[in-house]
Amino acid sequence: MDFRRINDLPPYVFAQIDQLKLQARRAGKDVIDMGFGNPDIPSPGLAVEKLIESARNPKNHRYSASRGIPKLRQAISSLYLRRFGVEIDPETEVVTTMGAKEGLSHLMWVLSGPGDSVLVPSPSYPIHIYAPVFAGADVRQVPLGPAANPDVFFDSLMEAWESTWPRPKVVVLSFPHNPTTICVDIDWMTKLVNFAREHDVILVHDFAYADIAFDGYSPPSILQVPGAKEVSVELYSLTKSFSMAGWRVAFTVGNTEVVQALTKLKSYLDYGTFQPIQIASIVTMNEAPDYPKLVNETYQSRRDALCDKLASIGWEVAKPKGTMFVWAPIPDAYRDMGSLEFAKYLVSEAEVATSPGIGFGPGGDGFVRFALIENEQRIGQAARNLRKALTRLS
Ligand SMILES: Cc1ncc(COP(=O)(O)O)c(C=O)c1O
Repeated sequence: MDFRRINDLPPYVFAQIDQLKLQARRAGKDVIDMGFGNPDIPSPGLAVEKLIESARNPKNHRYSASRGIPKLRQAISSLYLRRFGVEIDPETEVVTTMGAKEGLSHLMWVLSGPGDSVLVPSPSYPIHIYAPVFAGADVRQVPLGPAANPDVFFDSLMEAWESTWPRPKVVVLSFPHNPTTICVDIDWMTKLVNFAREHDVILVHDFAYADIAFDGYSPPSILQVPGAKEVSVELYSLTKSFSMAGWRVAFTVGNTEVVQALTKLKSYLDYGTFQPIQIASIVTMNEAPDYPKLVNETYQSRRDALCDKLASIGWEVAKPKGTMFVWAPIPDAYRDMGSLEFAKYLVSEAEVATSPGIGFGPGGDGFVRFALIENEQRIGQAARNLRKALTRLS
């Protein structure tokens, strides 16, 4: 049978690692899983209590508001003011989505279609590439570059824009960046916003790691740039910040026209997130505003543990300033294997699961990505296993 849109999708390489992991576990092996970025830190207790309480009220069992109930939109507006000093009108500049992934996918439906082109960094979180593909647009992947230098990337974006016809309508961004962990500052964002304002380009900033940043670095919201709302929308998610991955609560905020277009599309597609989840999210954002700091501390100690231990076995990896990942160049002695074979080798020989860089696009093949979702003791065990398996490390 032929399935439109699905047939052209490449095989999902992460599934191959997952399969190997499952086989090894079935064979009784204790695989340390740092593959999928699925947070293991519990959601705030307050969120769980409020969910239970509001689920008991039958009034909350009905269809809810597709764009989010008013107090939820008010709560994200207060969070933006408190965290980033950005004013968001809860009536016109916010729409709730079922996670940033769903938000981004439907956003691309309203922003792009056949005949349009969209610039997306490569490597990238896969939906950044496939959301415009599903919308029927042409995707031009712009290398983030081995230099991992935001200024070099900026120049590549400009070159890609110049050499693409029809001119790209949309640029997808996401900093701190998954998987490369590249971070940018507000000056970088300002340059891009100025460019977008001059050339009628819409910027879509996936801010999934807004609160996961280390060593005093504070990731900028694109909306902090003066004039950004003319050309930008941002996706903010409770998934990583509040460790609420399974709840599927995120927001698209910023440019009114874009937010309203997405609101309209969504009003045809869904009846809103289960209301008790929305109520619990309101209470969480309003009453547990410091939870992201606790979450962040955990990721920072795991980052330190992993990078320090990898260095001690002869695998030098720069410490990231943000995200819940470590983007590790494949050691020279194993580079020829490519990331998929190397990641498979790590599962079978070291009982450590990572994500092969190739799964994030062609620019990722020299790397594997560790997700910081195992505790420090397990990270220590992973390093011991890697030391034994990677005998060619100097
Ligand atoms: C860049 C990026 N965006 C979005 C998501 C998913 O976010 P959500 O759970 O809000 O859909 C992830 C999860 O790993 C991510 O890395």
